[in-house]
Amino acid sequence: MPVVIFSSPKGGAGKTTAATLFATQLAERGASVIVIDADPNKNVVDWANLAGVPKTLSVVGDVSEETIVDEIEAASEKASFVIVDLEGTASLMVSYAIAMADFVVIPVQGSQLDAKQAARQMKLIKGQEKITGRSIPFAVLFTRTNPAILPKTQRHIEERFTELNVPILATRLFDREAYRALFSFGGSLSALKNKGVSNLPAAISNAIEFTGEIVERLRNGNKAVAKREVA
Ligand SMILES: Nc1ncnc2c1ncn2[C@@H]1O[C@H](COP(=O)(O)OP(=O)(O)OP(=O)(O)O)[C@@H](O)[C@H]1O
Ligand SMILES: [Mg+2]
Repeated sequence: MPVVIFSSPKGGAGKTTAATLFATQLAERGASVIVIDADPNKNVVDWANLAGVPKTLSVVGDVSEETIVDEIEAASEKASFVIVDLEGTASLMVSYAIAMADFVVIPVQGSQLDAKQAARQMKLIKGQEKITGRSIPFAVLFTRTNPAILPKTQRHIEERFTELNVPILATRLFDREAYRALFSFGGSLSALKNKGVSNLPAAISNAIEFTGEIVERLRNGNKAVAKREVA
């Protein structure tokens, strides 16, 4: 079943956070999900060692450059969704994962430095498209954005990407405490109730919107979806 990978050569872009939100939201709806944690830092494995991992979600942490292709293939035969979290560098492992992907999410924070690394990631995807002889759908995800204002730098980057026909997810992931708390308390966002996390309902609706958009793009061949952003 579909393989969705989260990748950018920029460290700290928001890959693991977005991948874990996507995985937990799908699993909460009953989908079987396998997350392959292909980052040597094993942040998703650490999260899965905390309490509250949804029943239909499992994490594969034992993966290397030699095994990634087989692991992705085996997982896609078992689960409704396979999600791969990659490390923040360009590597052979990243290239292999891109070659296997049905969708690549490229998280970008609103700075020119992030945008430059996103452009590198897109080149890598284009290279893999040539090698594999198929198109590999991808989209940029603006993350850690401010729910109240859209800073000028970010607007500029968005406009530039739009001019270059780069697909951008209509849903931005806001900077939310809940998205950090997930990695302290474990489980999914709904398990953070009663933990005193600020703006949890807003964080949940943003994560639902984000998950829904990727699922929709997987279904519709990566066409832009109508913007229904919830702050
Ligand atoms: N939408 C968000 N809201 C709040 N905090 C966020 C959000 N996205 C990421 N962060 C925080 O930013 C930091 C980097 O995020 P994350 O670990 O997801 O990035 P990454 O791209 O996986 O990094 P690496 O390249 O090191 O694997 C973390 O401290 C995380 O909690
Ligand atoms: Mg990470």
